[in-house]
Amino acid sequence: MTSPSPFGRQEPRILDLKSDRFRAEFCSYGARLLALYLHNPDGSETNIALGFPRLEDYPAKDSYIGAICGRYANRICQARFELDGRPIALSANEGTNHLHGGVEGFDRRHWESAVLDSRSITFSLTSADGDQGYPGTLKTQVTYRIVDEDRLQCLIIATCDRPTVVNLTNHAYWNLSGDFSQSAAGHLLQIDADEYLPVNDQLIPLPGRSPVDGTAYDFRQEVSISEHLADSGGFDHNFCLTGERGQLRPVARLTDPESGRSLRLSTTEAGLQFYLARHFSPELSSREAHPLHPAAAIALEPQSYPDSPNRPDFPSSWLLPGDVYEHLIEWQFSSGHD
Ligand code: BGC
Repeated sequence: MTSPSPFGRQEPRILDLKSDRFRAEFCSYGARLLALYLHNPDGSETNIALGFPRLEDYPAKDSYIGAICGRYANRICQARFELDGRPIALSANEGTNHLHGGVEGFDRRHWESAVLDSRSITFSLTSADGDQGYPGTLKTQVTYRIVDEDRLQCLIIATCDRPTVVNLTNHAYWNLSGDFSQSAAGHLLQIDADEYLPVNDQLIPLPGRSPVDGTAYDFRQEVSISEHLADSGGFDHNFCLTGERGQLRPVARLTDPESGRSLRLSTTEAGLQFYLARHFSPELSSREAHPLHPAAAIALEPQSYPDSPNRPDFPSSWLLPGDVYEHLIEWQFSSGHD
């Protein structure tokens, strides 16, 4: 007897996009990037985006891999905030805190999908009033499109019918070597941030922002992550990006020194969560059947700041009826030594 599908009656749909330099696979479950195959100078290709071997693996072992996180990516302290002086209680899924949209976040939803043309696809989701505790109906549309031959964009748009908070991102995990059985800590990283947010033991931001100058969080000049690792105690922090929120601007660059492959990340958002994974295990394998190294990959998640709904000193995450939330993310890929 075959076991029932973890997706119930709604089977996920797989879609792909191709350019001369790469091809990407997506899935309607979580509006997710499943893989990104970068063409190598010798004609072969390498998948640099972590994914599981089978779609059925995602619901149980997810880690938000490649998915759209929402309604609020990252953490909201004590899973609550205030709206017009009234407390709003959200679903708590990391101890008493709220992470990446709660127990049934957007990464676990079946999104409507459509192919727009040969270079763009779109996913749509309506989140009902009260979903995971959030006020108001939220309609979200995510469009992935190829720009030029070497860039993939993700445009996230949302509207609401009551004042609510929103913070949406894509949670791709990268290892530009394509070997997920190896740590990604040897990658070089550069981030345009003069400040970062120190956090407590629950990864909730402490009061204030700290200058990166003279700390392990100084990535203003490209540096090997491993060089800063020991002094940091691990990387799972929000960086306060320079430049103007709302403007698409390059904010980070990740390079694998061995292969020379690199990606340049641009965003219209104010913050960047840099997470060097530490939670994977060799019992899990990548779609290439690599047993996962604990630090198999790096998530670079552009977004607002964590816990903004409780922090008037942080960039606002409020969305009002009639307004449009818009977040554009761009990844520009380079295949390295020619
Ligand atoms: C968070 C990590 C969390 C991970 C789950 C990241 O965005 O910052 O703390 O473990 O998502 O994949």
